[in-house]
Amino acid sequence: MVSDRHQSTFHALARFSAACFLITLFGCNVAHRNRPWTETHQKISRTGMISVEGGRVWYEIVGEGPGTPLLIVHGGPGAPHDYLNNLSALGGDRPIVFYDQLGCGKSDRPEDTKLWTRERSERELAEVRRALDLRECFILGQSWGTVITVDYLLTKPKGVHGVILANEALSVPRTAEYMQKLIDALPGNASETIRRSERDGTTDSPEYKAAVDMFYKRHMCRLDPWPGDLNHTFEGLGAGVYGYMNGPSEFTITGTIKDVDVTGRLHEIKLPTLFITGEFDEVPPYGATEDAARMPSATAIVIPGAAHMSNLDKPDEYLRTVGHWLQEHDTHVDHSPQKW
Ligand code: ALA
Repeated sequence: MVSDRHQSTFHALARFSAACFLITLFGCNVAHRNRPWTETHQKISRTGMISVEGGRVWYEIVGEGPGTPLLIVHGGPGAPHDYLNNLSALGGDRPIVFYDQLGCGKSDRPEDTKLWTRERSERELAEVRRALDLRECFILGQSWGTVITVDYLLTKPKGVHGVILANEALSVPRTAEYMQKLIDALPGNASETIRRSERDGTTDSPEYKAAVDMFYKRHMCRLDPWPGDLNHTFEGLGAGVYGYMNGPSEFTITGTIKDVDVTGRLHEIKLPTLFITGEFDEVPPYGATEDAARMPSATAIVIPGAAHMSNLDKPDEYLRTVGHWLQEHDTHVDHSPQKW
């Protein structure tokens, strides 16, 4: 009896300790996961300029969390990082590193069109990473930034722990074709206006501008009004780069990138990969699913109700998805010297 009672007391204590341990663990976990993902991280940031081929690019590092840093590669080409600013909410977990590519935003704006190539953009990414000593990092490329990111990963750099391909534009012909279907589905006579104005060269008419605006408000960013960060991107747009590489608008892709398609090489990238896109994205959401299937360790998430700037349209779902995925793939940051 006595020993039974001791035994049951022991078991009760053991259960109690185990419960305390679990509560502590679970409690921490819950506290961590329940923190609002959109909460603005207290902005501890460092900015500067980096010399790269062709000029200097501006960068900012936000946050000091202990996780592996996240390097952000914006799209456009030539659409500066501002519209991605809310990713700095993840700065409590890890440093978030932004830069404006050459020719836009706060970076230098040389006029030599020979600089506007995807090869130079890929080298620029490598130069930024090296200058900031990001020996270990995750990379998030958005839109055209996904092509730059994939080009870079195909050079087999060391120390990249995983990649997020957001609102991917990995096949520009697939994107351009899909955009024509989205134009067809615009209400009223918007599609007719777009086609007629482009054929007749009257793209400076108010009707054309209104039709473009309608497309952008459906498929680029669905917030009304657009947030300041997106307006800042448009204010800082590198019009020279955008016009030369993309074309006059999102859906009139007549620039040098019009035939780019890197989907055939995706299988070479073995890193953990997250595709994230939006239901109403101007780039085809099914592209993310198709491309994830080409890669050995990729998953695709389509955020309902979001367009091309999914991080702005649905910040909570977006940041929660990206934040959890990064936490799941976080590993200890290795600060040992590494050869580049
Ligand atoms: N022009 C689009 C972007 O890169 C596809 O954002």
